Amino acid sequence: MDPKTIKTIIEISYILAAVFFIFGLKMLGSQKTARKGNLISSVGMLLAIVATLLNQGLKFEWIAIGFGAGALIGALAAFLVKMTSMPEMVALFNGFGGIASLLVAWWEYLEKYQGNTQLTSAPLGEWIVPVVAIGFAVFIGGVTFTGSLVAYAKLAERIPTQPYLFPGQVPLNLLLLLVSLGLIGLFSYNPAEGNLYFYALLALSFLFGILGTIPIGGADMPVAIALLNSYSGLAACAAGFVLTNTVLIVSGSLVGASGIILTNIMCKAMNRKLINVLIAGDLGGAKLTKKIEGEAKPISPQDAYYIIEAARSVIFVPGYGMAVAQAQHVVKELGKILEDNGAEVKYVVHPVAGRMPGHMNVLLAEADVPYEQLVVPEDVNPIMESIDVAIVVGANDVVNPAARTDKGSALYGMPIIDVDKAKTVIVLKRSLRPGFAGVDNPLFFNENTRMLLGDAKSSIQALINEFKD
Ligand code: TAP
Repeated sequence: MDPKTIKTIIEISYILAAVFFIFGLKMLGSQKTARKGNLISSVGMLLAIVATLLNQGLKFEWIAIGFGAGALIGALAAFLVKMTSMPEMVALFNGFGGIASLLVAWWEYLEKYQGNTQLTSAPLGEWIVPVVAIGFAVFIGGVTFTGSLVAYAKLAERIPTQPYLFPGQVPLNLLLLLVSLGLIGLFSYNPAEGNLYFYALLALSFLFGILGTIPIGGADMPVAIALLNSYSGLAACAAGFVLTNTVLIVSGSLVGASGIILTNIMCKAMNRKLINVLIAGDLGGAKLTKKIEGEAKPISPQDAYYIIEAARSVIFVPGYGMAVAQAQHVVKELGKILEDNGAEVKYVVHPVAGRMPGHMNVLLAEADVPYEQLVVPEDVNPIMESIDVAIVVGANDVVNPAARTDKGSALYGMPIIDVDKAKTVIVLKRSLRPGFAGVDNPLFFNENTRMLLGDAKSSIQALINEFKD
């Protein structure tokens, strides 16, 4: 086949792949069509890969090595990484996306532009776009890489999840951003002799990624993850301009744009201003400034049984602890028992419950909880007083009333699920320890709260056994 025909086939395949991506993304918008959407996007990706392999002059031995190593690591990760560590994995994936784009841009710079005065003496219009794109791919890719590593370490709780703040942090971060943009300009002006600017940009991008992420506290991590996801897309888009590869430009923009939409949703869910999270951390203290009053009242599964057995309306509020305990199947089983017992049962999912967007939805879908029974906090908060029992399954921050009342708390302003207003609240967790944001929870000490302490799965199983006895 002549090279022109091959090029046309590749371009058409790329357009088709882009169409698959767009339809796939659209279908991810609803739980009913999400699986199909994933499949369609995967087919688009396969098409894009096959089309790319049709390019001439590829060194297949290197591709095979990369493919083999990637497949091995991916397969091992899929088998070995626990479901509860998925959010950390997602953070790492974002980082790898960023570093991949950075490496592509770096290689192009070394191959085509470094020391190549001949090329850059040609008219500006012939080379400026890929060169500016190299600057942006390196900057955004570097920020995404180190930022994601910090996010990973915070999510895995390998470093403290509290915001790390120091005097002059905001001006320093702004300065780093401006200097980096200046370096992109200087590098693009004369890439043939831009070695110094290039490597300074590389170093600053890594530094900016770290300094930009450490002020983000545990409670604001969802925003950071969504944003880093968006950055990884933007870096890929810039790498697409470096290589003049249409499908990379399109897919990168799709990831970039959807990441920004998700970031916005997360900011709304937590009532945060993006700019505050980005350059100044969450600006909140991690401790409660109001003294907690009252005493926690532990309850046995037997006594909890009498309460829920008599209830006519019950809500389950899942949180990260449900994922840790892998309690979703027993939660669904108990929900069914309560329904058969005449109660109206709903599952209230907070957008930032768990450790990644959609975390609870995925777990509940895995347990086949009917979609109609899933509701959002806005649906249930206005009628909370009429709910007989709210069963909190390993959720903590997303039900912490301090978010409404304590201005000094890191959670202040985040809309929560107002379970404290239900007639009775049964909280399933192992201790009275605070949640991910490190803020103590006054809910545990309320008059209408009972603490069913222990692993959530065992506690729910004990309740189910009470019904069966
Ligand atoms: P968290 O506030 O993280 O609290 C989870 C609770 O689960 C813990 O207090 C823990 O208490 C309990 N737990 C752990 N293992 C358990 C087990 N086996 N059985 C029973 N309970 C168990 O949960 P949340 O309410 O879902 O809030 C999520 C937090 O993570 C928010 O601060 C959010 O901002 C942040 N975050 C969310 C995301 C996304 S996108 N969803 C991403 C990053 C961070 P014990 O140790 O006492 O059992």
